[in-house]
Amino acid sequence: MKINDTLKLIKQKIRQQGEYNVAIPKHNIKLNQNETPYDCSNNLKLKILRELENNSWNRYPELKANNLIKKIAKILSCNSNQIVLGKGSNEVIQSIITSIISVNDKVCVLNPTFPIYKMITNQNDGVIIESKLNRDFKINEKDLLQKASKAKITILCNPNSPTGSLVSLDIIEKILRNINGFLVIDEAYVDFSKFTSLPLLSKNSNLIITRTFSKAFGLAGFRLGYAVMHSKVASEIQKCMLPFNIDKPSIIAGNIILSDYKKIIENSDKIINEREKLISRINELNDFKAYKSNANFFLLKSKISPQEIYTKLLKNGILVRDVSNYYLCKNKIRISIGSQEENEALFNILSELT
Ligand SMILES: Cc1ncc(COP(=O)(O)O)c(C=O)c1O
Repeated sequence: MKINDTLKLIKQKIRQQGEYNVAIPKHNIKLNQNETPYDCSNNLKLKILRELENNSWNRYPELKANNLIKKIAKILSCNSNQIVLGKGSNEVIQSIITSIISVNDKVCVLNPTFPIYKMITNQNDGVIIESKLNRDFKINEKDLLQKASKAKITILCNPNSPTGSLVSLDIIEKILRNINGFLVIDEAYVDFSKFTSLPLLSKNSNLIITRTFSKAFGLAGFRLGYAVMHSKVASEIQKCMLPFNIDKPSIIAGNIILSDYKKIIENSDKIINEREKLISRINELNDFKAYKSNANFFLLKSKISPQEIYTKLLKNGILVRDVSNYYLCKNKIRISIGSQEENEALFNILSELT
């Protein structure tokens, strides 16, 4: 068979989809993917390696990572049967959408927001309806409520990426009163906002909250995320996960990382502190506006083009994210908060540009 005929066998939706791409050119300071700058200690790494060494590699991992799930449930003050684990929160979001969305079902999302929701909805033949943020990155409440009421799932990234903006509990409660579908709240950046919708779970069986080990927890190199929801919904969503999806290294690393939860909170607080300092210093520079953020990144706007800023930073070894193709972000770049030294280096290069 000729390759063109072979490719025609692949769903048109998939062939039309662009590849997910994150450019990673050579750099010294990585501020493009909202990871934490704090790697876990050598001590913890050795513990993880030792436990991995003592485990049999020829055997499957646990079907359900019970200890890890128990630890997460304890932190969230919920029951273990409310938690679904995934290979990163991406996989959890995928199984939520896959288990709920059929052909032409609507999924309501903000614009701009994390692009994966749209990608997975399209792959499941669902239809995305977008509620555009205002210029100040606030939601248009009336529009969002109206669109959410038509959707089978509404997904709110809270704090939102790439804007760092936050939707209040008040509005989330209003959405819940207005919808007949699910509300999924992606709390990937919750540790940097200290604001969670968890208290709404007990009264709303249609609410699902997703979280990740990739940001504040510092385990992006392993793939671990989870969602918390009503236990009966969790049993259904779990069915869309492939058996043995979480590998032994991730289960072990997750367990060990949580043994020092205090450190995670401490590091998140350091990042919040750094964020506030950095944003206010940048705002003292001519030609730059750093937007307020509730996450571990912020948007930077300037008269200087995003491409010029990106290139100048990269020449100096600093990699940031060009988000200028996102709605409302034409003249902006997204910068993750690094360590104190990294933020200082970033600030110095930006100062040279003014
Ligand atoms: C808002 C948001 N949700 C989810 C994810 C996925 O994270 P992971 O699959 O690493 O848990 C990301 C990653 O950047 C994100 O920004």
